[in-house]
Amino acid sequence: MDKIGIFDFGGQYCHLIARRIRDLGVYADIIYEPSDEYKGFILSGGPGDVYADQAPKLSEDFFIDVRVPVLGICYGHQMIAQALGGKVEKGEEREYGKKIAQLETNSPLFANLDKREQVWMSHFDQVIKLPDNYRIIGKTDICPTAAYQNLEENVFGVQFHPEVIHTPSGDKILDNFIKITGCKKEWKLEGWVETKINQLQSEIKDKRVIMGVSGGVDSTVAAVLLSKAGINAHFIYVDTGLMRLRETEEVSNIFRDLAVEDFHVVEAESEFLDDLIGIINPEEKRKIIGRKFIEIFEREAKKIGNFEYLGQGTIYPDRIESAQPSKHASIIKTHHNVGGLPEKMSLDLVEPLNELYKDEVRRIGKMLGLPEKFINRHPFPGPAFAIRILGEVTKERVKILRNADTIVTKVIEASGLYKELWQVFPALITAKSVGVMGDKRTYEYMITIRAVESIDAMTADWSKLPYDVLEEISNQIINKVSGVNRVLYDITSKPPGTIEYE
Ligand code: XMP
Repeated sequence: MDKIGIFDFGGQYCHLIARRIRDLGVYADIIYEPSDEYKGFILSGGPGDVYADQAPKLSEDFFIDVRVPVLGICYGHQMIAQALGGKVEKGEEREYGKKIAQLETNSPLFANLDKREQVWMSHFDQVIKLPDNYRIIGKTDICPTAAYQNLEENVFGVQFHPEVIHTPSGDKILDNFIKITGCKKEWKLEGWVETKINQLQSEIKDKRVIMGVSGGVDSTVAAVLLSKAGINAHFIYVDTGLMRLRETEEVSNIFRDLAVEDFHVVEAESEFLDDLIGIINPEEKRKIIGRKFIEIFEREAKKIGNFEYLGQGTIYPDRIESAQPSKHASIIKTHHNVGGLPEKMSLDLVEPLNELYKDEVRRIGKMLGLPEKFINRHPFPGPAFAIRILGEVTKERVKILRNADTIVTKVIEASGLYKELWQVFPALITAKSVGVMGDKRTYEYMITIRAVESIDAMTADWSKLPYDVLEEISNQIINKVSGVNRVLYDITSKPPGTIEYE
């Protein structure tokens, strides 16, 4: 299959570029090293200054050796210019937000666009001198070098972000770049299921797979895929005691309705709670939980015997965001299903979804016949309530959070807002504050409500929930959840916050 490689220089939109390219029909990978397998490269944005000592850069050899088209975006645009003898400096003012760019529409990059297009800008530095043989093909009133090209070398750069929706013709620009690379549009989810099923059958054959399912979309879709492929798999749902209300029951029903055989529930609440006694550090919690999951799988595997594979619902961003190599993006969090794995595991991994983004997984789930309501469920982290209790996890605190969580979900569903939000959930702040209830002083925990809108969880905006909905949530929590006397609303976007608290 023809592919495009997206170099990650730590930019928040890097994954978005890959998703846009995939939506346009070409498979895209996030990469850190060049490779011959790609028919084009995109150099992403990044937070640094290209002229800084530590700035991530591609070696000069890259530009000498590269034989396929290259598109630099923002930081990538500046880096190319600087690497090839141009110059980048801080501009006179920061250019941020929607701007009008004047584009040379005879450039193949801007074919079928208007001469004036709205673009999304976010930069301070700018290219002040182009390398030899490079030509300006776009400018704004602040940035005279908003886009350039070298047609002979097939190198292009744009200071603005074609991948975000605020550049309405951004898809056309990326599609034009795809045309320049000559990539065939071979990435279609319709054929993916069949190809994956064949691949699973030929790789795994009649070997046995043990797989943990969390009840989330990812692991469920992965499990159903294995089941449809006729793989000899044994599915385990571990009841950690850290899950949402009636989760175990609901998950069991879904698997029963989908006729997935060999589905088993393992009760492990006290094991998890015991291991979490006294643990406050979020990364430690994640690692402990990850290890416990694996320990349970291995124990179950031994009991039943003869398993050779461990199935997981890992998706593409989990792989990239937690374990991977990023020299430039600092490790943000250890996702329990990746970073928590012990180094020596006696089972091989099978992760059928590890090349897909969440929206792609949802589409696959629909094709496999999973109910819409289930597919559109908000993401829920593997370590569950443990990372939504800010402090030590205890049974009493889990109960408080679970009750608050049930209320939040119900109120949001009733308001009709569920589908518009990426996630909405409460977290328990284990510091106490003073209140008054029925003329009595109270001294109890606080609940914070997190509601975010996002397209891929890489960035997120805090949601401006209507006051009456917030009021309903607050009233119900205060009245019905004992142990809480104050409800707060989180107004932090990502970045700088993350979606989860730990
Ligand atoms: P953050 O908090 O990093 O979350 O902004 C991004 C998205 O990932 C989910 N998340 C997890 N999912 N295991 C998971 O399966 C985890 O350990 C985990 N941590 C965060 C989070 O809910 C959000 O959608």
